[in-house]
Amino acid sequence: MQTIAITGATGLLGRTLVKTLEAHYHIVGCGFRRATPPLVSLDLSDKDAVSAFLDEYVPDVLIHAAAERKPDVCENDHAQTLALNVAASEHLAKQCNQRGIRLFFISTDYVFDGVNPPYVEQATTNPLNFYGQSKQQAELAVLASDPTHCVIRVPVLYGDVEYLAESAVTVIAEQLKSDPHSALDDWAIRYPTHVEDIALTLADLIALPKAQLGGIYHVSDTQALTKYQMAQLIASALGLDGSSLVALPEPTQSATRPHNCALKDTRLHTLGIAHHRDFAAAIGAVLNQHLQG
Ligand SMILES: NC(=O)c1ccc[n+]([C@@H]2O[C@H](COP(=O)([O-])OP(=O)(O)OC[C@H]3O[C@@H](n4cnc5c(N)ncnc54)[C@H](OP(=O)(O)O)[C@@H]3O)[C@@H](O)[C@H]2O)c1
Repeated sequence: MQTIAITGATGLLGRTLVKTLEAHYHIVGCGFRRATPPLVSLDLSDKDAVSAFLDEYVPDVLIHAAAERKPDVCENDHAQTLALNVAASEHLAKQCNQRGIRLFFISTDYVFDGVNPPYVEQATTNPLNFYGQSKQQAELAVLASDPTHCVIRVPVLYGDVEYLAESAVTVIAEQLKSDPHSALDDWAIRYPTHVEDIALTLADLIALPKAQLGGIYHVSDTQALTKYQMAQLIASALGLDGSSLVALPEPTQSATRPHNCALKDTRLHTLGIAHHRDFAAAIGAVLNQHLQG
């Protein structure tokens, strides 16, 4: 049985990667501050510890999902962002290349400026905020280390959360519940994607021969929604009245966000890989499970 190491296994995406892939693979998940056994606590900025981890567990595949992914946090701490998002990713990529480990690096639609969507995999990147810039640098470093490494770009994610504010999608439910007159961005167009669909896509990619893989892949659901539009669907899923919500026609967040980074998944389409779901039904299921649990 192949061994898959997953960084960020305590995070929103990583938890579902572990859950989905452990049915078919031996999984070694690692987190950092939240990691408790069987997860391994590994500080990715500690290069010696990373090498020792790879020596000990000898994975066949590594999915690198750990990152600082909050644009406002990245904007306020460039050094920390570069250390985790760029330097640690580059180190992992080189170590994986030297050891023949297949690397899947999770990146973001925020490497694009959002001006000319949809974006194919080879479209020119032009990130507008520091988070996007750090991921752009990491992508370049990963592929320079080994062109057979895979960069997996994903848009805004949702799924099982530990707390509603953990995802930029489920946090909307918290806003709605605390203030039915909440004002929400009705400018930026997003493509909320369930973490399980990312995990299922990765499972399909990992099952392919190494010779068929390498470079950039786009994984995205297709329903275009602003936060205001998501809020209306979330209100309806929770049986709340969305009629008092306020639509903001201009962006308001401190780190600049792109307008529309629609990711066109031409390579997955060619491979016949597609995992999509209806947002209204899926977010309803996520929220009901969380609020009842
Ligand atoms: N969430 C989104 O909407 C979204 C959108 C586009 C792209 N992405 C990308 O998808 C990937 C997964 O994101 P996510 O939402 O699952 O992130 P997340 O929930 O914020 O989790 C971040 C993970 O990184 C780990 N981590 C932080 N500092 C670390 C360090 N020094 N050493 C080792 N691990 C460290 C955390 O571990 P501890 O908590 O245990 O410390 C946690 O497991 C990221 O690459 C992100 O850029 C996410």
